[in-house]
Amino acid sequence: MGKYYITTPIYYPSDNLHIGHAYTTIAADALARYHRQIGDQVWFLTGTDEHGQKIQRKAGAAGVSPQAYVDGIVANIKDLWQRLQISNDDFIRTTEKRHEKAVQAIFEQLYRQGDIYKSEYEGWYCTPCEAFWTERQLKEGKCPDCGRDVELVKEESYFLRVSKYADRLIKHIEENPEFIQPVSRKNEMVNNFLKPGLEDLCVSRTTFDWGIKVPFDSKHVVYVWLDALSNYITALGYPEKTDLYCKYWPADLHLVGKEIVRFHTITWPIILMALGLPLPKRVFGHGWLVLDGGKMSKSKGNVIDPVLLIDKYGLDAIRYYLLREIPFGSDGYYTEDALILRINTDLANDLGNLLHRTLSMIEKFNQGVVPSPGTYQDLDQQVIKQSQESLIELKAAMEKLEINTALAAIFKLVSRANKYIDEAAPWALAKNPDLQERLHTVLYTMSETLRLVAVYLVPFLVETPAKIWEQLGLSGSPSSLEYNDAIKWGWLKPGVQTRKGNPIFPRIEVEKPKEEQPVEQKIAVPEKSPATQETGQITIDEFSRIDLRIAKVIEAEKVEGSDKLLKLKVKVLGAERQIVAGIAQHYQASDMVGKEIVVVANLKPAKLRGLLSEGMLLAASNDQGQLALVTPESMIGEGAKVR
Ligand code: MSP
Repeated sequence: MGKYYITTPIYYPSDNLHIGHAYTTIAADALARYHRQIGDQVWFLTGTDEHGQKIQRKAGAAGVSPQAYVDGIVANIKDLWQRLQISNDDFIRTTEKRHEKAVQAIFEQLYRQGDIYKSEYEGWYCTPCEAFWTERQLKEGKCPDCGRDVELVKEESYFLRVSKYADRLIKHIEENPEFIQPVSRKNEMVNNFLKPGLEDLCVSRTTFDWGIKVPFDSKHVVYVWLDALSNYITALGYPEKTDLYCKYWPADLHLVGKEIVRFHTITWPIILMALGLPLPKRVFGHGWLVLDGGKMSKSKGNVIDPVLLIDKYGLDAIRYYLLREIPFGSDGYYTEDALILRINTDLANDLGNLLHRTLSMIEKFNQGVVPSPGTYQDLDQQVIKQSQESLIELKAAMEKLEINTALAAIFKLVSRANKYIDEAAPWALAKNPDLQERLHTVLYTMSETLRLVAVYLVPFLVETPAKIWEQLGLSGSPSSLEYNDAIKWGWLKPGVQTRKGNPIFPRIEVEKPKEEQPVEQKIAVPEKSPATQETGQITIDEFSRIDLRIAKVIEAEKVEGSDKLLKLKVKVLGAERQIVAGIAQHYQASDMVGKEIVVVANLKPAKLRGLLSEGMLLAASNDQGQLALVTPESMIGEGAKVR
């Protein structure tokens, strides 16, 4: 038993939040609930990042004061977290006095000790990201993170002596492999930002005033990222060494989206080092939820409102889909079809049916009472073994933050139990008076498996475990049990009167179920010209609509649960993309890294096994089942056009 301090990013209340923000918060909630369940003392913090130029402009455009503007949105955010049953222990707003006073104290301390100094800033600023960039860092004159326009800024500023701490930070990162995760993000930070050298960071602004005033120079407001990052300690009471602070700092996990890993693994540790404080144990940068048109974001207008989804499909269905569908850490493609498929297969068919069948049979064959088991046979032992193996997998996955794998482990047990019912055939046993003890053993095994499933699901789903519990006729709730007792086979006492209820996940009827097309069929093949229709030939114009490019493979890994798929990270036309390709039986992941391959660069993104695939690689295959990648005859560089 230990302590576990987990945080989400504090969100900008520039607009109402969408399902992408909910994704991070639900994942953090599952981790917080898991650690509470296993007996850790948990502190789970979320909140809002309310200052800065972006918010000030938004409020101006809406014709209200920044405070009035954020108050309205923050009320909606709090309401959203309630609807999603987020179990946070605190919610910090950066406009609260407790935070503002603490940030001023931090700024003052860093200034007094010489880690902050005054100078002049001249460079570029991305207001949507609230990030400073040097000329060299821009990509084709735009923000390298979000691709939007940047503004030239020239103003008197305070600077943080980041350069002084860079070597110490590199050493820390190298010595603590769990500090930045997944490991690809660690490599990116070290190679792209730390190794090329850090410049001192501008930490105050003078051209607008919606921020925390620098205590000794009120013309300046504190840079919004210094203000925001500090929330992780100010919410605990820092600079007072409160009980909360002493108990919970350093954080065990800062969970963030991949685009802000840089602030959390470079800027934030350097602030902490300068303050003489320990660094967070782990920063995990998860992937994005993407829709057609790329990362879901309000400014692109491609957002999904979580409230509408909950109303339509129910809270646990949404939580399950988000946590199960996307390998945690990778980008994932959101589609309503995939959501419905998950509800109908995993939740309605597998879990819902297991409960329904079990309770119906107990009702029919034993007056609704959970019977006493007799001697377990080999078949029963297989289910008991699976219940233990699923738990081991679940625990290991949660340690590694592989939330989707943890859920997959639980559903392995659900599937095994459904198969067990078919194999044990209680309906046949019921017909034979000599097999009553055997019938009782099978019915007990089914009920106890379901009880364990309810216990295992506690961190992830918020309504379902209690519903299963209630239908099994149990009192109390599966979340309040002592964990080590709750996970023991045999906890369920025979003699309980079950209470069969409505199906816990009704199937969603879809008018025309759309089969997911294989990715190969999604190439934007042009309409056939008359000439084409006759001869099967295409014109040069038709061919030229397919944008074939050279891409360089940066990373490759096997897709979990698939023999055929490799997930590649490639660089093409200056940007990184994820491509999922069916080549795992022919190429090892490690052989792929560094290769230049040919990809269809203008292929509409598609989803394979819940993973986003943003392009297709070309390979040749023959009738003997051999496969060979198409590669340039000599290295020519990514982005080169294949024509
Ligand atoms: N205010 C800063 C964070 C400061 S933390 C000290 C900020 N806010 S934000 O409102 O833009 O929220 C960004 C976070 O929301 C991401 O890091 C991620 O956790 C989550 N997401 C926003 N859009 C998302 C997707 N489309 N997909 C997944 N997560 C998304 O940055």
